[in-house]
Amino acid sequence: MTKGVKLYEGKAKTLYEGPEPGTIIQYFKDDATAFNNVKKGTIAGKGIINNRITDLVMRRLENIGIPTHYIKRLSDREQLVKKVEIVPLEVIVRNIAAGSMSKKFGVEEGTRLSRPLVEFSLKNDDLGDPLMAEEHVLVLGLATEEELDDIIDMALQINDFLRGMFAAIGIELVDFKLEFGRLVEDDTVQLVLADEFSPDNCRLWDFETGEKLDKDRFRRDLGGEVEAYQEVARRLGISLEAA
Ligand code: C5P
Repeated sequence: MTKGVKLYEGKAKTLYEGPEPGTIIQYFKDDATAFNNVKKGTIAGKGIINNRITDLVMRRLENIGIPTHYIKRLSDREQLVKKVEIVPLEVIVRNIAAGSMSKKFGVEEGTRLSRPLVEFSLKNDDLGDPLMAEEHVLVLGLATEEELDDIIDMALQINDFLRGMFAAIGIELVDFKLEFGRLVEDDTVQLVLADEFSPDNCRLWDFETGEKLDKDRFRRDLGGEVEAYQEVARRLGISLEAA
């Protein structure tokens, strides 16, 4: 599909104006960054896989009643979504301590949490995406109390569903990042899930072997990034040949 004007170039995706007003085309790149852009590289074919995994996850979440920005996949690397005003928060859900949580609070990686944790960071690269309390979100006017309640409810519902979905294919969903947006339609504003869901923004551990099947392979120089992303797609029943 012919892409319109480039609106934004992110680390892993570029956004273009879509064919209809109020639509956007998300183009998935192979570029990978970590540690707030300090480490940069490419993972060949990653964009194609992430486009397919996001397509599957967004459609399944819509099926269980989670409102999303998603419309449809257009090609190998492109998907059509509704234009939203992104809430400037990284919403992170954790089932098991890992990554920044382990580092910040001295909790051993792999420690199972007594219940899922929903965490907020300010989406701001210059400030290094600082962790925020809910009170910060409210006092700084980043979201209303009602929106924050909705975000937490949706994040926990998404976690319940995706944990089960991954468990069924032998994968532990350790943690993941979500972004939400405000969709304005006919003078009403609805909070919807936006962005993507892929091994770039979650931690996935093989139940049996503990093998990491996500971007930590890149962050930690473990190698085998493409194979890991392909394995997740394969287990989800995605045939990459028939794109
Ligand atoms: O680094 P940290 O442990 O806080 O990451 C938690 C989860 O959120 C991981 O799955 C990571 O991939 C994701 N994340 C992300 N984008 C960020 C920060 C974290 O996708 N900017």
